[in-house]
Amino acid sequence: MLSTDFSARSRRVAVSPTMKVAADAMRLKAQGVDVVDFGAGEPDFPTPDHIGAAAKRAIDAHFTKYTNNSGTDDLKRAVLERYRADYGIDYSTAEVIITAGGKQALYNAVMVLFGPGDEVITHSPGWPTLVEQIKLAEASPVIVHAHAEDGFALHAESFIAAITPRTRGIILNSPANPTGALITESELTAIARECAKRGIWILVDLCYERLIYDPVPHNLPAVLTRELRDRSVLCCSASKAYAMTGWRCGWALAPAPVISAANAIQSHSTSNVCSISQKATEAALRGPQGCVTDMLEEYRRRRDQLFQWLSADPRIRLVKPAGAFYMFPDVSEFLSPDGVRTSAELATALLSDVQVAVTPGEAFDAPGFLRLSYATSLTELERGSKRILQYLDSLQPARI
Ligand SMILES: Cc1ncc(COP(=O)(O)O)c(C=O)c1O
Repeated sequence: MLSTDFSARSRRVAVSPTMKVAADAMRLKAQGVDVVDFGAGEPDFPTPDHIGAAAKRAIDAHFTKYTNNSGTDDLKRAVLERYRADYGIDYSTAEVIITAGGKQALYNAVMVLFGPGDEVITHSPGWPTLVEQIKLAEASPVIVHAHAEDGFALHAESFIAAITPRTRGIILNSPANPTGALITESELTAIARECAKRGIWILVDLCYERLIYDPVPHNLPAVLTRELRDRSVLCCSASKAYAMTGWRCGWALAPAPVISAANAIQSHSTSNVCSISQKATEAALRGPQGCVTDMLEEYRRRRDQLFQWLSADPRIRLVKPAGAFYMFPDVSEFLSPDGVRTSAELATALLSDVQVAVTPGEAFDAPGFLRLSYATSLTELERGSKRILQYLDSLQPARI
């Protein structure tokens, strides 16, 4: 019998449910099943050519050895210049670390800042990794709930009300996965002022920062730099903006002592990010940014079209996402104790019965919802939404 007497830490976490959907869909596709995949949390676009070309040049120049553990100075400077240009903030190379995606930027920060006895506030519906990382640090997650009725808005008063004497940090994700909602600059300012008074850290997950559809003010880095520079960590990524998910490159901007502690942790876990990926990311950050806006325009077309298709059934309640590339419909009208009982069952049925991969709301602490990624072609979105609508109709033929 295989042994499973693993550590308490490992028993506290399960594999990411979003990755499980992707794996199930991949398995069916490998068997030749015609799956329409709305599960993927990654751009369907290829990485832009100029970025790939920089990586090829790095290989040809034999730039294939260890780099500085915290990243190359060239890439750090490219990050700092990008953030100076985009947000008007000034950080030094001692205040940035290059990480294996935004996920490791967050992981490092959580491990540096939180531990047993600490409460860390985050929000739901939310990306499951944030809660799991808090648990891995042996801290306690405290969840603030956002609601579809007000567009999944994140309100400062809810976060402030959740603060206790044990609160050590707040982790915010904007644009948010899975809702696409944005926190406003004024709500963040109010949270940051409270945190400044009470000595609480704010970590902000900005992985979708470049994917915002309307020109609304969303200069969260400037807000945090102004209000709470000594206790803020900005966690960011090349993955979603530049269609670089597989390259595994992200970064964190934070006070130098946090970066130095994160560097120590990283030096005993993954070491430096792949040298070739670092060259590619430098090209992404320094090169023409039109590729980002072109992809964003295509996501916008898809968002608007998918919203229109799904709106054909008034029982599907929809909020139009302001950012990222996920639609998060409320499908609770279709659930019943003697039929499909939960959104998790609905997601399983959609994959097995009509071969559409979606992620159930349960994965984001939001039962009754489904997450549909529209990082896929309009043709696929049309095929998939037809299948979903037909399937939902078969559950409840009588329209309201
Ligand atoms: C909200 C959010 N943050 C961070 C990440 C991490 O992405 P990466 O590690 O590829 O930068 C993801 C990926 O899905 C995400 O959805």
